[in-house]
Amino acid sequence: MTEILLTEKLLHLRNDHVSYVIGILEGGVPAHLYFGKRLEGMNPASLLRHYDLRADGAWQPHNCALDHTPHEYPSHGLGDLREGALTVRAADGTRSADLRFVSAEVVEGKPGIPGLPATFGDNGRTLLVHLKDECIGLEATLSYTLFDDVAGVVRHASLRNVSGSDLVIERAYSLCLEMPDSRYDLITLSGAWSREREMFRRPLVMGEQGVSSLKGATSLHASNMLFLCRPETTEAQGEAIGAALVYSGNFKASVHVDPARNCRVFLGLNDVDFSWTLNPGATFDTPEAVTVYSDAGLDGMSAQFHRVCAEHLVRGKYAKAPRPILLNNWEATYFGFNEEKLLKIARTAADVGVELFVLDDGWFGKRDDDTTSLGDWFVDTAKLPNGMKHLTDQVHAMGLKFGLWFEPEMVSPKSKLYEAHPDWAIHIPGREPVQQRQQLTLDMSREDVQDYVYDCVARHLREDGIDYVKWDMNRNFSNIGSALLPAERQKELPHRYMLGLYRVLERLVNEFPEVLFESCSSGGGRFDMGMLYYMPQTWTSDNTDALCRCQIQYSTSLVFPPFAMGSHVSAVPNHQTGRITPIETRGNVAMSGCFGYELDLNTLSADDLEKVRQQIARVKKLRQTLLYGDFHRLLSPYEGNDTAWITVSPDKCEAVFMLTRALAKSGTYPPLVRLRGLDAEKVYTVAETGESYTGSELMNLGLCVRLPWGDAASVSLTLTARAE
Ligand code: GLA
Repeated sequence: MTEILLTEKLLHLRNDHVSYVIGILEGGVPAHLYFGKRLEGMNPASLLRHYDLRADGAWQPHNCALDHTPHEYPSHGLGDLREGALTVRAADGTRSADLRFVSAEVVEGKPGIPGLPATFGDNGRTLLVHLKDECIGLEATLSYTLFDDVAGVVRHASLRNVSGSDLVIERAYSLCLEMPDSRYDLITLSGAWSREREMFRRPLVMGEQGVSSLKGATSLHASNMLFLCRPETTEAQGEAIGAALVYSGNFKASVHVDPARNCRVFLGLNDVDFSWTLNPGATFDTPEAVTVYSDAGLDGMSAQFHRVCAEHLVRGKYAKAPRPILLNNWEATYFGFNEEKLLKIARTAADVGVELFVLDDGWFGKRDDDTTSLGDWFVDTAKLPNGMKHLTDQVHAMGLKFGLWFEPEMVSPKSKLYEAHPDWAIHIPGREPVQQRQQLTLDMSREDVQDYVYDCVARHLREDGIDYVKWDMNRNFSNIGSALLPAERQKELPHRYMLGLYRVLERLVNEFPEVLFESCSSGGGRFDMGMLYYMPQTWTSDNTDALCRCQIQYSTSLVFPPFAMGSHVSAVPNHQTGRITPIETRGNVAMSGCFGYELDLNTLSADDLEKVRQQIARVKKLRQTLLYGDFHRLLSPYEGNDTAWITVSPDKCEAVFMLTRALAKSGTYPPLVRLRGLDAEKVYTVAETGESYTGSELMNLGLCVRLPWGDAASVSLTLTARAE
């Protein structure tokens, strides 16, 4: 149960798992005192003495003591000389805010945030801390929610202009977390196209470190999250803290270590391309940040993030429902298809048990390659002479659902849309537009553009019997300018873009609750908690090579559960790496997510096609566990040749274990893998071998697994125990 204990000087939020404590210091300074394992009491004396001694040791005059105080929402330039979470330009041009405590209130549950994706849930409480800077006329409300079932806190800040003139917010992070020591390793996820979210772990050093994006999206290159763990922390044990932003645009995630070894963590909107003019009476909400704590290793930390995603973020019909097994035609045909070719692929797919046929890029305008037509969302009758509805009817008649690809936020310079509305693209007048993939970005900050995008997608959903949408976004921001925004508000464009996109998505998911949406951005370039609020699954990577996917899915699971990750079996040689891997391996890795195929099944041998039929039958039987069970990482592809993970049903009666070895090596032994998440007392039978072991044997002694011969060898085993 969440409780919020308020005294004059202490605001203590706690549930069964964690405590979060704010202290109100002399003069109403809101200080951060603690975040971690639940505390039974809270006497801040020794912590404050620790900070006082630092201030003394630094020989600072008294009013600079703020420089040695742990703050909840600091602003730089008055007593605190470090980087702050908030910078506000007042009417006189000065840029120092100083928020002091006014009052605190508790509300049941979790209020939403207007226009932004946010966690929700009734099983928790929210503390609202009201602050004010009397000098410049700025009010702030810091909001902190604890859900009963999560070892973590969700927070954001709301800023109000109560002065008589404009205030300009130049920086407003979502999260500032101060910790009294810096003996941590920092883990961040960075990558590129087709190798998203590689894990980087290094000790914190003096100064600033972290990751960021200015690309207009979370990006392929960095993820909007960071993790801190003790140097001795492993997957299975030790302390870990993780923070992730519920947002999909530019961000900054950084840790600052100061000479006193104090550690200040920031996460929020990247201020390089951000500012916000707040008129008198107006309010600005930052995106939300989720922070979790675990003393059971990185795997324990991920369990908290997975619970947030499953119970407090994903909405709608598919939040907990089996996801249809799909076949996507992209790698099967690329742009070269016609109705007959598609129906032939769909027919074989239906025959082996696929449930959803997805038509990817190339069905609209004159799009025979990626040089034209984005924005012209009208069926290309050269490829589909009978129209879209005719195609979907035939696919439906085979017993398949029908899905369609869109890239609605984009426009090709060669398109009817661009001819009619060149101003609708993000651009800087007088400058040559920089193209990526021969396309430009539509200015989603404009309402007319938002309405056009909504209409294009909604029309097809209404008229053509579409059951699934793949919502793609394949380029980054450049020439960042909007034709409608006044000069002093141009820096608002990146955030206004996101608000515009969220507005369109909110409309669509509410109006079409039956449709399954999958987010995509050149693969996993917008894999974040913001998108997950609207779309329950994300295409994890354009890289479908099973061995690369072991790494990508392993590190993606630091925050996201299997049900969030689109993962498909594709053809060999693989189109991204040229590697040949067995169909079993491709299936085993892909079934640890939203399972599907990305190839023409007609090209497979009879033997492989039979294996596909068996894979599909097995996934249908196990998918509730595979998608919604508790996921545990066991062996890391970042540390060795083997990847292993297990997904365990909530009642612990069913589990699916996967082990994949990258390279065959002679003279090595089959690994003995210690499993996790089972019931120690239960007896599990391994369906594939007939052997039985207790959960305690499997978790402490381990399971010895014989792998097939050759490179990229893999097994997937089903463990079942009798329910009590
Ligand atoms: C992006 C996506 C792919 C595919 C292509 C189509 O690269 O990530 O899956 O949809 O676009 O152009």
